[in-house]
Amino acid sequence: MSLDPSIAADMKKLDALLRGHVAPRLGRKKAEARILNLACGRCDEADTLVSAIKAGTEADQVKLVGADIRIREILQARERTSKLGAEFLLEDARQLGAHKELGEFDLVFMRHQNFWHGSEVWKEIFDTGLAKLSDDGLLVITSYFDKEHQLAIDALTDLGAELVETKQNELSRGLSDAPGKSVDRHLAIFRKPK
Ligand SMILES: C[S@@+](CC[C@H](N)C(=O)[O-])C[C@H]1O[C@@H](n2cnc3c(N)ncnc32)[C@H](O)[C@@H]1O
Repeated sequence: MSLDPSIAADMKKLDALLRGHVAPRLGRKKAEARILNLACGRCDEADTLVSAIKAGTEADQVKLVGADIRIREILQARERTSKLGAEFLLEDARQLGAHKELGEFDLVFMRHQNFWHGSEVWKEIFDTGLAKLSDDGLLVITSYFDKEHQLAIDALTDLGAELVETKQNELSRGLSDAPGKSVDRHLAIFRKPK
């Protein structure tokens, strides 16, 4: 999949964060590493996620499942990642708890979580993400702006998640039409509550 140059540059920065801060904490996976990307949109990060986690965990393969409620974005994600063997569900992330067959995931990822625009919905999405996490898995969010990042951290810790690290992306691309917002401005890593 070829990405717009500015998005490709964003992906290099995200890749460095995933390889430097997330993958080493996942440990080695013998066969398959499993990633659940909630509210994935068109999932520009699909290849980046799979390659960074595959390299970091030395898994034989990586399974990526994404879910979003927007059909156009899900269709784009499916089309653009057809060679990746990923699965994209047109589904409310809050309903995924009912899909027992999906199993557990080593990494639950939410890029540009949107807590500011719907805190109650996002608390439920976070709760579902934690429920889908394996015992030694990690839940990772990225955020566009400082206040929303802190609110999301507070909500996740209120749900019992343990904050492992929050990292500012020093190379984050600013959004010219939204002062104070930038791409993957912050990344935070959580463990499942014990
Ligand atoms: C800020 S966008 C981020 C999209 C994508 N992760 C990215 O970084 O470009 C927030 C996304 O949350 C999705 N969303 C909102 N509520 C949802 C829900 N209940 N279940 C699944 N997706 C949801 C929206 O459709 C949108 O794609």
